[in-house]
Amino acid sequence: MKLVVTYSSKDGLRREYERRACRYGSVVELPADYFAEGDSPETIQTVLGAFSSKGHEVIGLEADERVGQNLLEAAPDMVFNIAEGLYGDSRESYVPTICEHLGLAYSGSDPLTLALCLNKARAKEILSFHGIATPRFYVITSVEDDRLCDFPYPGIIKPISEGSSKGIFEDSVVKQEAAARVSIGKMLTTYDQAVIIEEFLPGQEFTVAVWGNGPEAEVLPIIGMNFDDLPPGANGIYSYEAKWLWDVPEKPLQIFSCPADISEALRQKIEMLVLRTCAVLQVRDWGRIDVRLDHASQPHILEVNPLPGILPKPEDNSCFPKAARTAGYSYADMLEHVVQIAMKRTGLLECGGRA
Ligand SMILES: Nc1ncnc2c1ncn2[C@@H]1O[C@H](COP(=O)(O)OP(=O)(O)OP(=O)(O)O)[C@@H](O)[C@H]1O
Ligand SMILES: [Mg+2]
Repeated sequence: MKLVVTYSSKDGLRREYERRACRYGSVVELPADYFAEGDSPETIQTVLGAFSSKGHEVIGLEADERVGQNLLEAAPDMVFNIAEGLYGDSRESYVPTICEHLGLAYSGSDPLTLALCLNKARAKEILSFHGIATPRFYVITSVEDDRLCDFPYPGIIKPISEGSSKGIFEDSVVKQEAAARVSIGKMLTTYDQAVIIEEFLPGQEFTVAVWGNGPEAEVLPIIGMNFDDLPPGANGIYSYEAKWLWDVPEKPLQIFSCPADISEALRQKIEMLVLRTCAVLQVRDWGRIDVRLDHASQPHILEVNPLPGILPKPEDNSCFPKAARTAGYSYADMLEHVVQIAMKRTGLLECGGRA
């Protein structure tokens, strides 16, 4: 098969930022986590190498302003999309939208699902409509918001449309109103978007990888998270500090266990919740869903990632590859399986490759 891998490299995102900044003449100091979602050269090379090792003809393309033309010229059988983009709720939908416009088959969710899930409030509204448990929240656009007076603290404050723990710092957990207003003020200025304040769930956390479609959707071994290894006084969340500063390959933290050591009853409850979540949000081919227990040990959906991170090195603790590894899939086997799922969905399997 001829595959194109579309990605957003960290350098590519920086160039995109500079292009915009030049156009609008607004170069500002960037937060340290600004390019956290970009793919490293190592991830890109490993993904390309994995597909070559499976016998595919493979080309990598930066998801930049030329990607449409480049995709047309490459004329792949399938686009394997991992591009995160940089601006707005629709940034993960950029490549899928172009693929739909060009009539190219691509892996993963469609533009609507990618955009809805990136906006945490929109995703939670849909989950609530369908009766799926998710912590209560408000969308906040001003530090003056009156609802902060009677919020049931503790809460956690997050930018509305980010991932990779961007904007989720230790001080995002707030125990009272004054701290909430300070944290919200900082976040509104730094990330230039609304924030959500969400009920803080005190129970255990899990992240759950899912792949396949319809009745074939399958939950990979559940990953349990344990925050006892974080520095003393830390808040027990997978914050930016925990993910990128404290848990480093030279000094890895023992945060994850896979499969999670939980009762059969809880495992089934989490699996049902996650599969229903994927169904109502129409997550396609693959995804990763974060779940946390409330004070009564009932699972709630924290957020849905239809474009899961796939850092290749096990010590990077990227969770989709970790769950796939536990299920017996090497990195290359995992990627190949996602492509097979996408091919089956698009009908490419039946016609032997070429669309
Ligand atoms: N309501 C909550 N109660 C308790 N902890 C929470 C809550 N919401 C988020 N957290 C903590 O903050 C972390 C990051 O939050 P979230 O998963 O929403 O952000 P993200 O940046 O989109 O994550 P990802 O890196 O998975 O894309 C969670 O893994 C969890 O530890
Ligand atoms: Mg998360």
